[in-house]
Amino acid sequence: MNTKELVALEIKNALEDNLLSINEIEDYLEHPKRDDLGDISFPTFVLSKILHKNPKDIAEELAKKINVDKFEKVEVVGPYINFFIKKTEFASNVLHNVLTEKNNYGDNTIGKDQNVTIDMSSPNIAKPMSMGHLRSTVIGNALANIFAKNGFNPIKINHLGDWGTQFGKLIQAYKLWGSEEEVKCDPINTLLKYYVKFHKEAEKDESLNDKARAWFTKLEDGDEEATRLWKWFSSESLKEFKSIYDELGVTFDHYTGESFYNDKMPEIIDILNNKGLLKESRGVKIVDLDKYNLNPAVIQKSDGSSLYITRDLATALYRKREYNFVQSLYVVGSEQRNHFDQLKAVLKEMGFEWANDIHYIPFGLITLNGQKLSTRAGRVVLLKDVISDSVNLALEQIKQKNPSLQNKEEVAHSVGVGAIIFHDLKNEKINQFDFDLKEVVHFEGDTGPYVQYAHARAESILRKSNCKEIDLNNLSLNDINSWDIIKQLNRFPEIIVKAMNEYEPSVIAKYSLNLARSFNKYYGNTKILVEDDYLNARLALVKSVSIVLKESLRLLGVEAPNEM
Ligand code: ARG
Repeated sequence: MNTKELVALEIKNALEDNLLSINEIEDYLEHPKRDDLGDISFPTFVLSKILHKNPKDIAEELAKKINVDKFEKVEVVGPYINFFIKKTEFASNVLHNVLTEKNNYGDNTIGKDQNVTIDMSSPNIAKPMSMGHLRSTVIGNALANIFAKNGFNPIKINHLGDWGTQFGKLIQAYKLWGSEEEVKCDPINTLLKYYVKFHKEAEKDESLNDKARAWFTKLEDGDEEATRLWKWFSSESLKEFKSIYDELGVTFDHYTGESFYNDKMPEIIDILNNKGLLKESRGVKIVDLDKYNLNPAVIQKSDGSSLYITRDLATALYRKREYNFVQSLYVVGSEQRNHFDQLKAVLKEMGFEWANDIHYIPFGLITLNGQKLSTRAGRVVLLKDVISDSVNLALEQIKQKNPSLQNKEEVAHSVGVGAIIFHDLKNEKINQFDFDLKEVVHFEGDTGPYVQYAHARAESILRKSNCKEIDLNNLSLNDINSWDIIKQLNRFPEIIVKAMNEYEPSVIAKYSLNLARSFNKYYGNTKILVEDDYLNARLALVKSVSIVLKESLRLLGVEAPNEM
């Protein structure tokens, strides 16, 4: 129980006639700015409207009915009832909970093991993975961890962009300018080069686009040569993507790209036809979405080939049947909002009620030094390069701060990669942000390394205490400096639920920054390791901070080295 709940419950018991519910009372409770006004205070103004009495009198009368044994003291100041929490008792309960539940602290069973599919990462074959796909990867991964902590069964699906007219373009480009040796030597860069060249040439020669479209149709029809080239491009790309996922420490339950749904689209077309939803318009087949205030969704091109949305319709239906999800998340950049609005609308038109369980989770654009990332123009920030630069920056700092550290390279990897992931997750998803690597990897500031460093510092204190066994029956703290940490530790279970409800890993990132800051302040003000009666409780506090910081970072997908 947190401090507000504790106070709300006692007020509820003291109030007559169910005047307010616990939740209402909690909403009215305030955290006073000054310590002498208590930890929580209840302004009685709200009751004066209901009881037609003046708030001061209400405060006086109500305070008399409160069970004061539950608190250190209860004081009335004007219209306020101020509650002073029994801090020592409260603190030892919190520490006891964290230390007994360890990394399971904060777990709940809201999800009842139900399935939640998460469409994440989903880069496009034959192109380098961009910073945008990085965002989708790390946000999706963090959401999966958060949903699992809330008792759901997350299913991480990489919906690879491995189908569509661009493969017609690529095959056409390869046929014109490609060389097998060149592709083998540096697959993605070479394929990208062909793709960029195709766009340049197609500006001059329109007919190239028609030829590309023809190749894609061949691919959809299972043509031998088209299929062979497509499979080759795909497998080369996947190798490279997987090496990046390994670096990030992200795994998937399924790699089912758009091509997986090629044979599942006729059913979609049938359903649409049977419901009379498919209309012919200027040679293409569309579903009218006027009543949703959306542009019509184009479902089939004039040559019968499918579109991105056609494949997503088949995907959504497949996922419902296969996993019977209670929620289906799509972590995709905000530029695709319209696509997902259309997708949900068409599914609703098809009569699928569960379309309401589809949640599009958009995020903003990342720029590097102010530059937008784009593959068409060929200006691409390679994720691999960003990661290795980040790891190098981390290594430089570690060499300075801790020259005697044994496994510097390994720690630098955790810190460098962790820094990128954390930076991506600390802002609300929808925010656009610029990327200055130096700032991101810095050990001071609102960074991942700052949180990792606080965790390592806690672990180092515990090592210096000779790893004393902590006595769980002696957790009374006597120092006021620890109270801020206790309140934050106590909030962790709430934070887990909030992060899930808002689909916001940043809730956890911000929480971990605050906890790390409070801990560093505590560390600066308190002699932790002196031998006195409270040493055990202080070590319990340090251990609890270490557990909760590590678990917060784990939820975000960031490692927490014990030394750095
Ligand atoms: N491959 C797409 C892109 O890079 C993202 C796919 C997102 N998932 C989906 N089911 N549409 O733009």
